[in-house]
Amino acid sequence: MSWLDNVESAAYKLNPRSFQEEHGILGESVELKKIVEVVQQVAPTDITVLITGESGVGKEIIAKTIHAASQRSKKSLITVNSGAIPEGIIESELFGHERGSFTGAAGERKGDFELADNGTIFLDEIGELPLSAQVKFLRILENGEFLRVGSSMPRRVNVRVLAATNKNLEAEVRNGHFRSDLYFRLRSVNIVIPPLRQRVDDVPVLFRAFVDEFSAKNNAKFGGISDEGMNALKSYHWPGNVRELRNVVESMLVLESGKFLNAADINKYLKEYHPPAAESRNLPMVTGKSVEQAERELILRALFEIKADVLELKNVLHEQATALAHVQQNDPMAIQADSSLSLTDMEHKLIAEALQRFKGNRRAAARALNISERTLYRKIKEYHLE
Ligand SMILES: Nc1ncnc2c1ncn2[C@@H]1O[C@H](COP(=O)(O)OP(=O)(O)OP(=O)(O)O)[C@@H](O)[C@H]1O
Ligand SMILES: [Mg+2]
Repeated sequence: MSWLDNVESAAYKLNPRSFQEEHGILGESVELKKIVEVVQQVAPTDITVLITGESGVGKEIIAKTIHAASQRSKKSLITVNSGAIPEGIIESELFGHERGSFTGAAGERKGDFELADNGTIFLDEIGELPLSAQVKFLRILENGEFLRVGSSMPRRVNVRVLAATNKNLEAEVRNGHFRSDLYFRLRSVNIVIPPLRQRVDDVPVLFRAFVDEFSAKNNAKFGGISDEGMNALKSYHWPGNVRELRNVVESMLVLESGKFLNAADINKYLKEYHPPAAESRNLPMVTGKSVEQAERELILRALFEIKADVLELKNVLHEQATALAHVQQNDPMAIQADSSLSLTDMEHKLIAEALQRFKGNRRAAARALNISERTLYRKIKEYHLE
């Protein structure tokens, strides 16, 4: 240890750790600082907080911090992933049930709200909560009262509620999947975490912290990064946000151990960006035209684009059918090998492969398979993939 290290640790003792340090929330952007300020304001109260933002932006870390910085911190924080619980048992999970209230309910059971009594409940993926459970949830929010499944005796709990979602709840309300009264009740304090691409000042700090974490864990050496390399990280669109940055740093450290990282080294680990059609679309200018006229043009243009997409799809399908016929003619065995798998076997195989690819991370696997987490859980049980 050098004399400098001693000076630094002495200074560290004199300066108590900042709120951010204490709770492991890294970042220097104005956007993040504002969020931390709100967290500090709401944490000591019992107010319900809705946390929204894309996947991987840090909703869970913010929820945990609100609990940890509250007067309830010594009591439990119960996290419920509403998207992962099968619809049939969600009410019993949340509110508990009485003995014999449904087939298989041998004994009585406390629900998550009762388990969180005097503490905090964090309802993750709140947008996935079925409508029937939403009614009961609203009642708890309004007066702390609920009924266990199969009981008509109201019970009371003293629970602080935090909720999170990466869905656009307003749109869910519009399409009838989310109750508007519950939405208005929830959104009174809404912490919106912007995607990482909109707060690039956080990238260097997060990068550095993940480098330290993973070089220690994987015994890998960090050989430095050029300014262009850092710029490549800062200008990337990060669809998976902080979680993706964390994963990229881990792979890069292991595979490029000890190497000085230039932009080209970094780009190997970043996905190419294909902007969705709406972003690249050249929207008509509204200036000089009536809004209706501009809207009509927009709709017409969208229709033309849909037509073009359908034509393109038709062509692709036609090409594939031709190629398939060709392969069948020349090598009937090649196709037979595949078609020997039944639909169920294929589904089983796909799910097993996705779980393996994402190292058992069910959320990531569900996303890759384009099915809901709830469906994935059901399938895992069905195919005994646990
Ligand atoms: N500001 C931050 N400082 C340090 N780590 C962070 C920060 N934001 C996110 N992370 C880390 O990134 C990962 C993803 O964060 P988190 O699980 O909180 O995201 P999320 O918004 O809940 O994602 P999802 O919608 O997929 O559940 C975690 O490992 C978390 O610790
Ligand atoms: Mg989360």
